[in-house]
Amino acid sequence: MKRTKINILLASDEPIEKILVKGWVRTKRDSKEFSFMELNDGSCLKNIQVIADSRLENYSNISAITTGSAVGVEGKLVESPGKGQRWEIHAECVDIINVATEDYPLQKKRHSDEFLRTIAHLRARSNKYGAAFRIRSEMAFAIHNFYHEKGFRYLHTPIITGSDCEGAGEMFRVTSLAPEAVAKAGKWDFNQDFFAHEANLTVSGQLSAEMFALALGDVYTFGPTFRAENSNTSRHVAEFWMVEPEMAFCDLAGNMDHAEELLKYLTRYALLHCSEDMALFTEFVDKGLKKVLDTLVDEEYARISYDDAVELLLKSGKKFEYMVVNGKDLQSEHERFLAGEYFKKPVFLVNYPKSIKPFYMRVNDDGRTVAAMDLLVPRIGEIIGGSQREERLEMLEQRMDQMGLPKESYWWYLDSRRFGSVPHAGFGMGFERLLMLITGITNIRDVIPFPRTPGNIDF
Ligand code: 4AD
Ligand code: MG
Repeated sequence: MKRTKINILLASDEPIEKILVKGWVRTKRDSKEFSFMELNDGSCLKNIQVIADSRLENYSNISAITTGSAVGVEGKLVESPGKGQRWEIHAECVDIINVATEDYPLQKKRHSDEFLRTIAHLRARSNKYGAAFRIRSEMAFAIHNFYHEKGFRYLHTPIITGSDCEGAGEMFRVTSLAPEAVAKAGKWDFNQDFFAHEANLTVSGQLSAEMFALALGDVYTFGPTFRAENSNTSRHVAEFWMVEPEMAFCDLAGNMDHAEELLKYLTRYALLHCSEDMALFTEFVDKGLKKVLDTLVDEEYARISYDDAVELLLKSGKKFEYMVVNGKDLQSEHERFLAGEYFKKPVFLVNYPKSIKPFYMRVNDDGRTVAAMDLLVPRIGEIIGGSQREERLEMLEQRMDQMGLPKESYWWYLDSRRFGSVPHAGFGMGFERLLMLITGITNIRDVIPFPRTPGNIDF
């Protein structure tokens, strides 16, 4: 007999004579005549109640089933007389697949996020993390949906690369050389290495995406990205996923319009398609979440220049841990103040000083700033970083010289500015930051299955 998933059964319009479900026991209580099991198979937040009669031939084994055990149940789907559920299962046969040992750590009680992080291999079996990771899956699908509907082409950019897109040097090296060989030679000799060139895990697929935007028009990448920044914050991980659209014939304003449309679409999608799981977050995790989400969908996002934002921060009278200085990067506390307290909605900051932005951003007419945009959102701060790209060959070469970048290594990138160069723009949206925003989860470690952070590579 074919297994039916619990979400399908719970949505049934009528009783069903014969069904088979398989899942894990969340809780169980026994009386003399019956055993009541709450069964969950991960297909949805809700459990289904299974009632096993003491007349079943293996009843003594059934009553010994523990929390966390795996069972298969054949029986009838019938109207439940109990409160809070429409359906329950009257078991005709209970197949005990595996009995969990008594030290199963997810007993029925509230566990802290910190504790659940130490059992990341099991936490998806809890209500909150089951919901979070179902939403993660839906949102990944929504991203592809959005771009497919808009006619963007999905591009796979390399994970191993020879260039440093962001120029921040926070990269994980890739080598096939044995550590002893490097130690013996006293240096990492690229010529002896696999690629005969320095190689790293990618920090962004942007440079490749630009090449393809200049061929296919509108493209996007959506894949893993790696940063060796040693920041132990609640918003940084060493391995994360980034969505990177890149659009030919597009300027900074078009780039912002696109980012706003994307975030609105994704928020709406979550509310519509993940309503049961989302309710867990709006009701139990963060009472203010629904309001934030409505703002994301309904409000027009603010747009101000970096200079104005700095002014605003300086005049705010707010005590920050870090000083606000024009010409320096904003700290996340500044970003959260702007989006969360001042505008109370997402805000694009544009035209940053070129000194704090990478080489590829288009230099503005003032010669001092670049056509950069960061989208800041309440609670999180930066969720999107992007720009219009420098399409003028001379200007780009000048910037690379100023920043000490080896032009030879970027010959292919520079080629694109010689052969039909056009204005183009794009951005990167951190997928985990999006999930934090949508669920109200405050630590990035809790929206990625197995987080990679400094000193932590368990699981
Ligand atoms: O602002 P970033 O560094 O932009 C780029 O990499 C551009 N090359 C993207 C582009 O234009 N195609 O990173 C983009 C976003 C950030 O806004 C943030 O949401 C996320 O990626 N991000 C991180 N997320 C989690 N952990 C980290 N360590 C992150 N670093 C960046
Ligand atoms: Mg950024």
